[in-house]
Amino acid sequence: MIDAPDRVCAIVWRENALELLDQRLLPGVVHYQRLTTAADVAHAIREMVVRGAPAIGITAAYGVVLAARARYAETPQSWQTRIGEDLAILIQSRPTAVNLNWAVQRMAQVMAGLVGDPEQQLLAEAQAIHREDIAANRRMGQLGAALLGERGAVLTHCNAGSLATGGYGTALGVVRAGVAAGLIERVYADETRPWLQGARLTAWELVQDGIPVTLLADAAAAALLRQGQVRWVIVGADRIAANGDVANKIGTYPLAIIARYHGVRFMVVAPTSTVDLQMTNGAAIPIEQRAAEELLNLGGHPVAATGTEVWNPSFDVTPAALVDALVTERGVVLKPDAAQLARLMLL
Ligand code: MRU
Repeated sequence: MIDAPDRVCAIVWRENALELLDQRLLPGVVHYQRLTTAADVAHAIREMVVRGAPAIGITAAYGVVLAARARYAETPQSWQTRIGEDLAILIQSRPTAVNLNWAVQRMAQVMAGLVGDPEQQLLAEAQAIHREDIAANRRMGQLGAALLGERGAVLTHCNAGSLATGGYGTALGVVRAGVAAGLIERVYADETRPWLQGARLTAWELVQDGIPVTLLADAAAAALLRQGQVRWVIVGADRIAANGDVANKIGTYPLAIIARYHGVRFMVVAPTSTVDLQMTNGAAIPIEQRAAEELLNLGGHPVAATGTEVWNPSFDVTPAALVDALVTERGVVLKPDAAQLARLMLL
């Protein structure tokens, strides 16, 4: 088992199966789903039992272990030819977070060189991906906290914490390191409509760690930034294009605009597994459209007239020009652009 770096643990490999903290039920119910097939793992990613770009990458890596176990049991001589469809289903389970594809490709590379029963070697690789993610988050926490400067408040959006990663978090990793260093006095968390990752997950996660958190409606962010206590907006990312454009939870782009208007700095924290050099700029990034029900209902109750049409993109793209700092495990890039990102990815 991987040692959890904080109180919250979203992904656990226990007794030969994958256990996922069901994030749809938080904060009311803490329940782990036990999964033993790759199809169940893909379904759990699609249905957001687990979510957040690094977390779904790690989950898919464990999904590859389960797929290999089943295919090897079926046909030990030719399991490698049949597993391709399982990998495709895992990769397609959500379209925007590139960590999913990155993790499955890394598992496929290990798979290519295997002889005999593949399970233990693939499990070792999935656990390495999991451990490396936690280590990257700790490193980014230190690097991001070093940028914070004078003590103050920060604002975050969605959940880029332990729940969204192998542990410790990206944006919330910087928060954890910043709080430990005495540089953050309070975290403001956008509720993050429509799925409420901020209200249901970020506030819960920070309360577990005793970090002061204040929840606000997304629409209150501009009024908050005008007040002047917030020094940084700190967010994660689902995919970063070669020019530094950032796809992240819907509502990130307007935050970047209001941050610039009010002179508040904007920090994106993401491991290099989130950088996709195949995407020249953010316009090429596939944006997931989610079900109309997420907007038409709230807590199981209808909030719009039957027959209302819905536009529900799950992510938006923040232009690189609005990003003051990109923090990765390989280092910090100030005012990211294509040349700096290309250099970073060669390190
Ligand atoms: O739809 P979600 O909850 O998977 O979206 C998550 C985000 O947008 C996160 O900010 C991003 O994946 C980074 S998580 C470290």
